[in-house]
Amino acid sequence: MSSLRSADAGGGAGLGVAVLGSTGSIGSQALDVLAAHPHEFRVVALAAGSNGDLLAEQARRFGAGVTALGASGEDLAEIAARDDVDFVVVATGGIVSLRPVLAALTAGKVVATANKETLVAGGHLVMPLARSLAAARAAGDPGDPYASPLAWLRPIDSEHSAIWQCLVGEPLNRVASLVLTASGGPFLDGPADLARITPAQALRHPTWSMGAKITIDSATLANKGLEVVEARWLYDVEDDAIEVVVHPQSVVHSAVRFVDGSLKAQLGTPDMRTPIQYALTYPDRLPSPAAAVDLVAAGRLDFRAPDEARFPALRIAREAGRIGQRATTALIAADDIAVARFLDDSLGFTGIPALLAAAVERFGAGVDQAPDVDALIALDDEVRGWATTWQGAGA
Ligand SMILES: NC(=O)c1ccc[n+]([C@@H]2O[C@H](COP(=O)([O-])OP(=O)(O)OC[C@H]3O[C@@H](n4cnc5c(N)ncnc54)[C@H](OP(=O)(O)O)[C@@H]3O)[C@@H](O)[C@H]2O)c1
Repeated sequence: MSSLRSADAGGGAGLGVAVLGSTGSIGSQALDVLAAHPHEFRVVALAAGSNGDLLAEQARRFGAGVTALGASGEDLAEIAARDDVDFVVVATGGIVSLRPVLAALTAGKVVATANKETLVAGGHLVMPLARSLAAARAAGDPGDPYASPLAWLRPIDSEHSAIWQCLVGEPLNRVASLVLTASGGPFLDGPADLARITPAQALRHPTWSMGAKITIDSATLANKGLEVVEARWLYDVEDDAIEVVVHPQSVVHSAVRFVDGSLKAQLGTPDMRTPIQYALTYPDRLPSPAAAVDLVAAGRLDFRAPDEARFPALRIAREAGRIGQRATTALIAADDIAVARFLDDSLGFTGIPALLAAAVERFGAGVDQAPDVDALIALDDEVRGWATTWQGAGA
């Protein structure tokens, strides 16, 4: 097993890191964090989709010997499983990252992922690998920080990082529920009729600065629905043990409710470098360039229940999660196309949840709710083709 060669063994060369999707929003922030800790990490491989100029510049800056542009899932899997890679940061969108995540875990590497398909589509394939790596470490020493599946499959999403941080050191059988916070997006307080929302309006996120896809997903609450599905896999809990609470200030990143009535939360500024860095340094913490929360400046923290009538995507995602992996794979593939269509004006804002519901209904049924990776990729492709020309309410 090549994983954790350097840090785990106390070596001086730093962990060998591969960043998949290095030119994107999460990928470039991951590189900022890595640059701040040159003794702990060594960037050995970088992969991007199409931005060859930025990829080349990043490779020069970090001395990365391996680069890949527009690579297939199989090629990314080869990079993820390289002997000189200890740690894989997954910052691509899409199902292209599923093969490299599976390859990395199979080879005993640590994976930190922002990519949603990893769990929403592939949770049933990915989590058993993380659990078996954890079990092997627990057999040696139950107190080993690597005796937890979350040490092997580390969430980057701020909400999941918050829950993870709240769970460290806690008995998992004493968790009552998980509380995912949602900013509520730009339309929390209106307008009542969302049908005529334009892309420019939906792209104005009130608290976070993110890529276009996830910003629209925040405005529809589809993002929160995908996070509920991810949470079920990451923390091994049922849907009814996951609460969603709207918190417009985005200071409380999420929380865990325990059986004794205690509610433990993680607070931070809306800066993805904090959860990215925690995923890289767990179980340790290092100084970060991200600003800390100023509680006095924050002043007040508001919470309210989500409005599932105005934002049905949350309910649709929960339903998909209850059906199984075909339904959640259809959901996330359809969402990618729905958001792209909304951004190019071929689908209305309320057409997004309508398309998601139609996709779950059409593709979610079927006996095989645990498809293998080839079947998932084929389903993803089929749903995308169908969603591109879907015409229904809101389209
Ligand atoms: N942005 C956030 O704050 C945030 C927060 C939580 C979770 N997430 C999740 O993190 C993931 C990434 O989000 P993002 O906002 O960073 O997206 P993004 O800015 O669109 O970046 C996507 C990255 O993936 C790369 N890519 C595309 N195809 C690739 C391939 N075949 N091989 C390697 N790289 C490839 C892109 O390269 P090119 O640019 O060169 O085409 C780009 O570097 C998404 O699943 C998102 O939901 C994001």
